[in-house]
Amino acid sequence: MNASVNHGGKRGNGTENGIVGKSPAILSILDQLKSIALSDNTVLLIGETGVGKERFAEYVHQKSVRRFKPLVKISVSTLPRELVESELFGHERGAFTSASAEKKGLFEIANGGTLFLDDIDDLPFEMQPKLLRSLESREIHRIGGTRSIPIDVRFIASTKVNLKDLVDQGRYRSDLFYRLSVVPVTIPPLRERREDVPLLLSHYLREFLPEKEIEISRDALRALTNYSWPGNIRELVNLVLRLLVFVNGKITADDLPREIREEEPIEMLLSSCTKCLTEERGSFSEIVSCLETRLLRHALELSDGNKSRAAKLLGMKLSTFRDKILHYQLTDFR
Ligand SMILES: Nc1ncnc2c1ncn2[C@@H]1O[C@H](COP(=O)(O)OP(=O)(O)OP(=O)(O)O)[C@@H](O)[C@H]1O
Ligand SMILES: [Mg+2]
Repeated sequence: MNASVNHGGKRGNGTENGIVGKSPAILSILDQLKSIALSDNTVLLIGETGVGKERFAEYVHQKSVRRFKPLVKISVSTLPRELVESELFGHERGAFTSASAEKKGLFEIANGGTLFLDDIDDLPFEMQPKLLRSLESREIHRIGGTRSIPIDVRFIASTKVNLKDLVDQGRYRSDLFYRLSVVPVTIPPLRERREDVPLLLSHYLREFLPEKEIEISRDALRALTNYSWPGNIRELVNLVLRLLVFVNGKITADDLPREIREEEPIEMLLSSCTKCLTEERGSFSEIVSCLETRLLRHALELSDGNKSRAAKLLGMKLSTFRDKILHYQLTDFR
């Protein structure tokens, strides 16, 4: 089965409930979740892959009065479509050909505790009304059963995509969407909270190799902090594991994979301009100016203000680069 059960308790890794981060975004999410944890509200965690949605679900459980009861986690995307219903709601004996015995569903197993449903965007359309009914009535029916079983469960769900888009495309039921969105919490990608990168690196270096002090060179740390981390914290954890295989004492820029050492201009552009691309920002020419300014700045920062290197990073002639700096009045770099 793809579900796991955890009976709560504190982790002994020196960080509050396993969450590393001091960026304003993370501190505000922790505050928000701490007060949400006191209620029994459904929580919807929204964020790209690897941002820590499961970690934050654990945090809510541990901060709630339900922490001594089970936290049951299940990922919809790893379950075969036809098994989702019986996993969640269970079945009675003889409900279908292979049901030789009755089986409790995860809602029942989580009773008194928390049920975390990962990737709720993948929940089959035909299952959505049944989930909605259970959340609203606080009772479930096993497959093939007639009796209603009361459930006392805090429900947390996570999604990698904007559920509203799925609703607009007719792939998600709007009533379930509104029920899930009572308390939406968006976890920003790592590239929007770069100040957490050094903390996470030292946390995981210590966690994986507690007996040894590993240093990170200035250049390496700058490249790691500037990198866009498309796989977010999961990618960072895996990189630390990989580095520890061959690094001895100090991590230098040469030890880093090429994509981190020298990110391509287009990645730099995207990583430095998420806001430009997602927020309403006026006319086309305003957006282009904003993108260009950010890209120029980013390249200058990566090359310590050295214009020839910055121009090279962007694949631009030095004279064009200088003209643009003048045009955008990037005076601090002149
Ligand atoms: N703030 C954090 N501090 C320390 N470790 C973290 C933090 N956030 C995430 N991690 C670690 O990063 C990895 C990915 O986190 P998690 O599984 O919670 O992400 P996710 O958002 O659920 O990803 P997916 O969408 O792929 O399911 C895990 O090893 C987790 O322990
Ligand atoms: Mg997850």
